[in-house]
Amino acid sequence: MSNYHIKHLEEYFQVYNKSVNDPETFWGEIAEENFIWHKKWDRVLSWDFTKPEVKWFEGAKLNITENCLDRHLITRAEKTAILFEPNHPSEKAQHITYRILYEQVCRMANVLKDQGIQKGDRVCIYLPMIPEMVYSVLACARVGAVHSVVFAGFSATALSTRINDCECKMVITSDGSYRGKKTIDLKGIVDEALKDCTCVDSVLVAKRTNTKVNIVDGRDHWLAPLMNNASALHNAEIMDAEDPLFILYTSGSTGSPKGMLHTTAGYMVYSSYTFKNVFNYQENDVYWCTADVGWITGHSYIIYGPLANGATTIVFEGVPSYPDYGRFWEVIEKHKVTQFYTAPTAIRALAKEGSEFPEKYDLSTLKVLGTVGEPINEEAWHWYDDHVGHNNSPIVDTYWQTENGGIIVTPLPYITPTKPTFATLPFIGIQPAIMDANGTELKCNQVNGSLCVKFPWPSIARTIWGNHQRYKDTYFTTFENKYFTGDGALRDESGYYRITGRVDDVIIVSGHNLGTAPIEDAINEHPDVVESAIVGYPHDIKGNALYGYVTLKDSGKLRDEETLRKEINQSITEHIGPIAKLNKIQFSDGLPKTRSGKIMRRILRKIAHKESDNLGDLSTLLNPEVVQSVIDNAF
Ligand code: WTA
Repeated sequence: MSNYHIKHLEEYFQVYNKSVNDPETFWGEIAEENFIWHKKWDRVLSWDFTKPEVKWFEGAKLNITENCLDRHLITRAEKTAILFEPNHPSEKAQHITYRILYEQVCRMANVLKDQGIQKGDRVCIYLPMIPEMVYSVLACARVGAVHSVVFAGFSATALSTRINDCECKMVITSDGSYRGKKTIDLKGIVDEALKDCTCVDSVLVAKRTNTKVNIVDGRDHWLAPLMNNASALHNAEIMDAEDPLFILYTSGSTGSPKGMLHTTAGYMVYSSYTFKNVFNYQENDVYWCTADVGWITGHSYIIYGPLANGATTIVFEGVPSYPDYGRFWEVIEKHKVTQFYTAPTAIRALAKEGSEFPEKYDLSTLKVLGTVGEPINEEAWHWYDDHVGHNNSPIVDTYWQTENGGIIVTPLPYITPTKPTFATLPFIGIQPAIMDANGTELKCNQVNGSLCVKFPWPSIARTIWGNHQRYKDTYFTTFENKYFTGDGALRDESGYYRITGRVDDVIIVSGHNLGTAPIEDAINEHPDVVESAIVGYPHDIKGNALYGYVTLKDSGKLRDEETLRKEINQSITEHIGPIAKLNKIQFSDGLPKTRSGKIMRRILRKIAHKESDNLGDLSTLLNPEVVQSVIDNAF
């Protein structure tokens, strides 16, 4: 199979050049040789970033689940597809073979059909990391329904916003979920959310915690009995290449979450091809990505990418700190994990607990280590390299976004020489550009600016659900005819890329994207608050933490500050979820503003970064006098 698995650096450059010089031939060959199709495409690519419109493999017919399941039944039926590792180590891991996975997905597809789900309908999945998560995602894809997975740590309000935005007809959830020591009442959260949703006809409930739940007659159904009665055969719906596959919400710097829409064929080809090469995946490997399927990393690199390659992929229900900080290492030893893919925030948290934990376990099966979600600092990179990889497993620092569908800048293990904190080189087919503030592309090396991509790749998101204009405005208007990532990057003397962080009002906290506007809205809901502004500041473990500046009404000034802080974080937890809670909350009499009344976050950011002696010119402010009091009260 030509170029599907790149083996050395020279080949990487050759293949890269081919993918850039003749993308249509290149991607046409990859698609034709490595996937099964009901009908071949009429055209590999048509695109116009000014609209923006991108279509890959137009006219082709396929079902992604036939590529992830059916085709493996000939050669890999008894191979483990999903290795489920439960929250508590005393509960036995489950090996779900390709045959069983196929049958379960078919059963569930039949259940969805029986419940009236049709091609094109949206289904919300609000589940913990249990096998039913994978069955649900694939069953939707099998019947042609568009899945919208919502991370099961989001609050009822966040869930109902997402259900309503794309008008889901069904919600798939579980009675409860285990997360370390905690048991969470997921079904209760769904019930609360559905008070605000009229579009949902049915709720399927998987059993996990055996907690007592409220079952609404006619709407809610236990999943297991329906699946037991359903046939284990299902003819996959034949989809068009550009039919929607899923929606996944991501935070924006303003307003409501953006439902990124991914389509079928291009997403399949790119997630699968990147998986094979970025993780140097070989037939008998045991691959583990610790992300949650609630995020894009889980979609592309727990489910679709690995399964399209016939891999064994671990689904881990637990957390790195439970029952102790050795859990990741224990799981690696137990299942002889070969590729391990996690987030810098997890590495920093584990490094803080000391190297005694990894030292207790046999990690010698590891061949590739990966990181994703935020820039990895040098110290964490070396700890990972020394204490987990024993300087024997290359680290792939993979840069990408929900909008990208798959990894776009990354080393290839054993091929690209790595450099700590650098995501290194563009993946095959990716044409990055670094832009200066005037919108000019900086073509030489040793430059620093805004990171864009000049040419479409197969898994770029096609739109924001229900709001194409916002898609255009967010990604395609800042720089003409280019996709703008929202990240800053530098390119060093050898052409390696280093991602320097967000250049907009999105803050990455513990690897999660958080928009400032929705958090500020949640704070402003508090009856004692006039207004607020959120900025990020450096945090040893989370990468960034949130610093909130809050102006109180007179009623609030009479109240106890600690109580107010608790209430504000409670409001954030209710509107968004605990991941968006503030680390620091400073009350002030006013916030620095421009003459047009816009809060000057730049100044607040500097104060939170303890750089207040270097605030620049304040004379243009509407209220320069507030700055000193904000500085005096800073933490
Ligand atoms: C950041 C996660 C530096 C970046 C797959 C991006 C990174 C945002 C890296 C997307 C990395 C992701 N180095 N920064 N290796 N990977 N990011 O949509 O700011 O949850 O824009 O997708 O995470 O986050 P998202």
